[in-house]
Amino acid sequence: MDMQKNQYNVLFACSELTPWVKTGGLADVSGSLPHALRRAGAEVKIVVPGYRAVLDQIDRPQYVCHLDLPLGPVAVCCTSLAGTEVLLVTHPVFSNRNGNPYMSDDDRAWPDNPYRFALFSQAVSEIGLNRANLDWQPDIVHCNDWQTGLTPALLSLSHQRPATVFTVHNLAYQGNILYNAYKELELPDALFHADGLEFWGQASFIKGGLAYADRVNTVSPGYANEIKTTEFGAGMEGMLNSRGERVSGILNGIDEEEWNPETDPYLKQNYTADSIDLKIENKIALQQRMKLPVDKDIPLLGSISRLAIQKGIDVLIDAIKAMPDERFQLAILGAGETDLQSQLSQLADRYPEKVAVRFGYDESLSRAIEAGSDIFVMPSRYEPCGLNQFYSLRYGTVPLVTRVGGLADTVFDVDSSDTKKDQKNGIVIDAATTEHLVDGIQRALVHYNDKAQWKALQRTGMRTSYSWNRSASEYIALYAKAIGDNLNRMSVTRYANV
Ligand code: ADP
Ligand code: GLC
Repeated sequence: MDMQKNQYNVLFACSELTPWVKTGGLADVSGSLPHALRRAGAEVKIVVPGYRAVLDQIDRPQYVCHLDLPLGPVAVCCTSLAGTEVLLVTHPVFSNRNGNPYMSDDDRAWPDNPYRFALFSQAVSEIGLNRANLDWQPDIVHCNDWQTGLTPALLSLSHQRPATVFTVHNLAYQGNILYNAYKELELPDALFHADGLEFWGQASFIKGGLAYADRVNTVSPGYANEIKTTEFGAGMEGMLNSRGERVSGILNGIDEEEWNPETDPYLKQNYTADSIDLKIENKIALQQRMKLPVDKDIPLLGSISRLAIQKGIDVLIDAIKAMPDERFQLAILGAGETDLQSQLSQLADRYPEKVAVRFGYDESLSRAIEAGSDIFVMPSRYEPCGLNQFYSLRYGTVPLVTRVGGLADTVFDVDSSDTKKDQKNGIVIDAATTEHLVDGIQRALVHYNDKAQWKALQRTGMRTSYSWNRSASEYIALYAKAIGDNLNRMSVTRYANV
């Protein structure tokens, strides 16, 4: 574990991974950041649970070893993804189920999720300690979200261990379980205290990452500041403040090859910033696909979202109801809460010429909405980073967002006097309320009618780079700090033991 070298060995642990298994942006980050880290000189192995959906998509994974973990035996296999090695932790709790990583097909969380992700975290810790027959010692174990939160905590029990980084993609999902359930999992008592996993009497998986990782980061500088406040801290603000400068923000990037309107195979018509007039073909195709009246001139709003309180879809529904006479269309694709689904269905029934909704996870339709819409609406109540605003900017679809988290860091309002003209790329509202959103949509509609200005906005978005290059270097710098912290800890404890 040499602090001087740049070529760190990085074990990147995640619970979803594009293109194999995705419920949200975490999968896209896991499927693109590791490749960018490799380009920046790191040697990276990704580790992910061997879900049925993953095993079905890969050709003969290679057997690596068995691990006899406290929670049971798992097999580790390996394969590769775009040149990056991927380790699969296989066990029937992952491989014998349909549905997504966290829920069954009828949208119910698997009751044994604490067991599944404690098992996964134990496996990641063993691989991190070079006990998986790989002859490979990571310098850094980089964990992501609550599903891997126990790993930094478990590793903290070993004196000689790799450095750990924990990235918060969403603080609201915490993996909290009753103390009895924690005892049943026979997880170490030594970790259950106020400065450790304990959270209001329960055990919190995410707190394992927040409390024990050498460095903690979130996916935008804006959200890094927000989560230290009561409003956005989800009860973890005290712990986060106590970690001081060890908590930082690094803005997500995107895979610019994967999300490129010039080459995207899902699009009816490919286009670039210079041939932006061709984008209209995608609008017509989207109107046809969503069974909305075909009309080149009517502003078409799009939204692709997990249907969750975070995303402000309820606010969008209320805003649409508050503007019955305004001329626009809305195409929404969403998966998630059934109550929001039924509210959206009712909205589409009430305004069939104006609103079209589709439910479920649909990659092809999501690309069609990104390319075919004029305006992309994200009225999030909070947003750690958000990826759809990047995809929209890249596709010349002007984003309309709330001024929170990563959205505030990436979208700059067309009417703002603080922003330089050549940086203006969208519409920003102050908060996720009906009044603000109605105002934001009305402003967007006015600007849409000024064709020259609208094209300038679109081109600014399309010509800006959102690649991982800069952020990958920031992660490498963060790894160096984490390694430094870990070396200090080891030398201090060694000294204390003399
Ligand atoms: P979050 O991770 O909070 O859901 P992000 O904006 O970071 O939000 O990422 C969401 C990702 O998931 C985007 O790539 C988006 O296009 C995709 N997505 C969300 N819902 C759907 C859906 N129903 N069908 C297809 N893709 C979806
Ligand atoms: C989470 C956040 C989202 C972020 C994504 C990837 O799901 O809700 O804002 O973009 O993770 O980091």
